[in-house]
Amino acid sequence: MKIIHSIITLLFFGLIIQSCGDQPEKKKSAFGDVNYKKETKSESTSTKVASAEVESEESEGAAGQPDEQIAVAKKLISSTDNDLVKSVDAKKIFKNYCAICHGRKGNMQINGSKDLSKTNTSLAQRVAQIYFGRGTMTPFKGIIKDEEVIAVAQYIDELKK
Ligand code: HEC
Repeated sequence: MKIIHSIITLLFFGLIIQSCGDQPEKKKSAFGDVNYKKETKSESTSTKVASAEVESEESEGAAGQPDEQIAVAKKLISSTDNDLVKSVDAKKIFKNYCAICHGRKGNMQINGSKDLSKTNTSLAQRVAQIYFGRGTMTPFKGIIKDEEVIAVAQYIDELKK
């Protein structure tokens, strides 16, 4: 505590000495500098946001998942044990991971997410999209298990009813 106190005292005296020696104009420009730096910092963050928006706009244009992703999805579907898929509580997975954007009934369409209660995507397309993500939808590969990806992709049919 003593050290901190003496540091503060030193800084305080340093400031007084500096302000005595400096012209008032100079002091102003020093503060101006600080403000200027702050402004440029916030500018750079806003450009980042802008470029992220452009990116998501670009990916919105393409139709469907790329062929190689569909191929991986098909392989995943055929190689995953059906009983394992059936043992998944898909409703819970959907509630925990998907409802935040799609809503519990799949029709909330937050952040440009598609209405899942009206989707006409195939199972392989859905699995690919859940696995690899698309636009602002995050990829779930490694976040939920493969059998959970398939189960929740199947669960979307329940939402269409
Ligand atoms: C961060 C928000 C977000 C989360 C979380 C999310 N999605 Fe999406 N989802 C989206 C967006 C955005 C789209 C539209 C993407 C596009 O086409 O550019 C979408 C589209 C889809 C589609 C395609 C529908 C169609 O007709 O093209 C499916 C299927 C889908 N999501 C399933 C899921 C599942 C299942 C989960 C949970 C494992 C999930 N999503 C989690 C945002 C999200």
